[in-house]
Amino acid sequence: MNTLNKLTMSLGALFVASFSVVVVGAQSNEPAMVKLPTAKAGLYHHDAPTLEDIQNDPDIHNELRKVILKGRDLFMNTQQLRGEYVFNDMNCKSCHMGEGRKEWSGPVWPAATTLPDYRGKNGHVNSLEERIAGCFSFSMNGKAPEYGSDTMLALSAYHQYMAKGAKMYDKKIAGRGFSSLGNKMPEGTNYASGQKVYEANCAVCHGADGNGKRVDGQVVFPPLWGDGSYNWGAGMTRVFTAASFIQNNMPLGQPGRLSDEDAWNVAYFINAQERPQDPRYTGDAKETREKFMNFHKATLYGTEVNGKVLGQHDNTGDKPFLKPDVLKPRSFN
Ligand code: HEC
Ligand code: HEC
Repeated sequence: MNTLNKLTMSLGALFVASFSVVVVGAQSNEPAMVKLPTAKAGLYHHDAPTLEDIQNDPDIHNELRKVILKGRDLFMNTQQLRGEYVFNDMNCKSCHMGEGRKEWSGPVWPAATTLPDYRGKNGHVNSLEERIAGCFSFSMNGKAPEYGSDTMLALSAYHQYMAKGAKMYDKKIAGRGFSSLGNKMPEGTNYASGQKVYEANCAVCHGADGNGKRVDGQVVFPPLWGDGSYNWGAGMTRVFTAASFIQNNMPLGQPGRLSDEDAWNVAYFINAQERPQDPRYTGDAKETREKFMNFHKATLYGTEVNGKVLGQHDNTGDKPFLKPDVLKPRSFN
């Protein structure tokens, strides 16, 4: 384990240990609840390989092992690509927790068993590389390493190895994605209640300003909004995606602690804050929202919150361009 991971874990443990004091709103003498949603009947679970499995698998060539381990390293510490392909403070594992293996935290291996497939977000058939490229373009506010490059090979090898033993083209996968709460935002979900939940449960790590925490230049707690966060085109800007992710993974080490209502409200609050521009921006946030309504119907982008139209600006954060080349249509006629 590197020192950063050790630091994150010990800081996490520290905060978790002091949660009875930190958590306002919940009864302070109530023991911490850890509950995860149960998957519907008929779905199958897959135990993705661990680091130890990769290190000890006698069936893979050592050269392949090195590539998979490199992919894992890039997944856990994506900041090594900062300034080239990554322009915010995220690592892949910031959202795909448990090394991309954890159910209800967007386990990544299903992409390797269900792609190539049609993807509604960009309206064409995507490969595994293109799916990874999607998270670079939006979640990492960057651009994808070139298809076929060493970096892309390593990342896709990691994804594919994680799928070892899983069924090909079987979508009845338990704990896939994040969306356990469903995609209908309950009426009454609101900013002010979300802000209270945030201040009581999240600000201690992610900061009162949502900018997260760095120690010695290293990101310990990732930002939830602002220039260091995911951009306006990222899956996490959908209020339902964030609400489910948060309920099943946050506060760190306390999955299932927040009620449905608190999870929705805090997701709304976070996703009502400014962040780098959607790379698909046309120059007008309302127009961009309309154009990509199949996606933005679940976000607050291009809508007015607290008297301001969210996303109406030219700020791309640290990224010196708006749109990466890979965001282009593709069709076979
Ligand atoms: C800001 C959060 C965030 C970060 C950071 C992030 N992702 Fe994602 N990722 C998501 C969301 C949201 C989804 C969509 C899940 C859904 O559809 O519910 C997703 C989906 C995926 C999928 C598809 C999984 C499936 O079920 O088919 C893959 C593969 C993936 N991400 C890889 C990556 C890689 C590689 C990185 C780092 C380069 C990364 N992600 C960084 C949020 C993130
Ligand atoms: C004990 C510290 C801690 C607390 C408290 C905490 N988080 Fe996190 N959060 C983290 C860490 C660390 C990560 C990244 C996970 C990783 O890298 O393994 C993270 C990741 C996230 C992410 C995805 C990555 C990103 O930056 O967008 C979101 C969203 C998030 N937290 C929201 C919340 C919300 C909402 C709360 C309050 C309900 C909360 N967190 C409370 C430490 C914390």
